[in-house]
Amino acid sequence: MSLKKQTQRTALITGSTRGIGKETALLLLQKELNVIISSRSQQSVDNVIQEIHDKFPSKKENILGIKCDVSQQSDVKSLLDISIKTFGKIDILVNNAGIVYFKSIMDTTEEEWDNTIDTNLKGIFLFTKEVLPYMLENKSDSIIINVSSGAGKSGFPNLSAYCASKFGVIGFTESIANEVADNNVKVMTICPGGVDTKMIEDIVNNGFTLSNGKLMKPEQVANKIYDMISNQKDYYNGQSVEFYNK
Ligand SMILES: NC(=O)c1ccc[n+]([C@@H]2O[C@H](COP(=O)([O-])OP(=O)(O)OC[C@H]3O[C@@H](n4cnc5c(N)ncnc54)[C@H](OP(=O)(O)O)[C@@H]3O)[C@@H](O)[C@H]2O)c1
Repeated sequence: MSLKKQTQRTALITGSTRGIGKETALLLLQKELNVIISSRSQQSVDNVIQEIHDKFPSKKENILGIKCDVSQQSDVKSLLDISIKTFGKIDILVNNAGIVYFKSIMDTTEEEWDNTIDTNLKGIFLFTKEVLPYMLENKSDSIIINVSSGAGKSGFPNLSAYCASKFGVIGFTESIANEVADNNVKVMTICPGGVDTKMIEDIVNNGFTLSNGKLMKPEQVANKIYDMISNQKDYYNGQSVEFYNK
């Protein structure tokens, strides 16, 4: 491992082959961090890695792409093993991977409920549990940012599984923040409003109407996540940071 690579901070962003996760990964890479990207699709991971190699050839050593389904413990463990072998540590974890079904409770199947909770909530549990020991050992300031939603603060019709998972993310975050309060690890949630990504496009195509039609760009959320990482003193441990379009 090169000295440069070892001394730079390392960020792991789940669900980072498009949308908010990808923009966050690109921003952190440009801010001189080592970055690990992932998603369920090897093809998508390869495409993003290729795009980054083409755009930022000098950063080839600082980016790692690994296929990983956040709901599968074996995937999470193997991603962590490879990441630690490559960069030696994880300083920042952004638990971003998420899915949504826009369906009434009557139409929601048990499988769709389980997929939602397994991805949006269990995935955060699995990653936090695996990454925390490295952060505690590190003894430098480490940060976990869990991506919830405005739908983690208020319920919306036809989004019951999604809202349940996103409310859960906030409760999980507050609990963990208290567990690690004395250990130089800060755990926070970001709750964005509507963001112009494939996720929102999919639910709008299924009948979701935006209360305030103006969507944010994923880059705006990436910038807010970066602010939470770089201006830590402005945020408290366990905070849910609401971030809406003005
Ligand atoms: N868009 C919004 O309006 C909005 C608002 C508030 C909060 N959020 C939250 O922001 C996060 C990102 O959303 P987005 O809008 O950027 O969505 P997106 O464009 O659909 O991107 C989701 C990313 O997560 C990955 N992913 C999905 N399931 C996964 C799994 N089981 N394991 C690993 N990766 C997985 C996807 O890749 P693969 O499909 O290839 O795995 C993709 O890279 C989500 O947690 C979402 O709930 C979104």
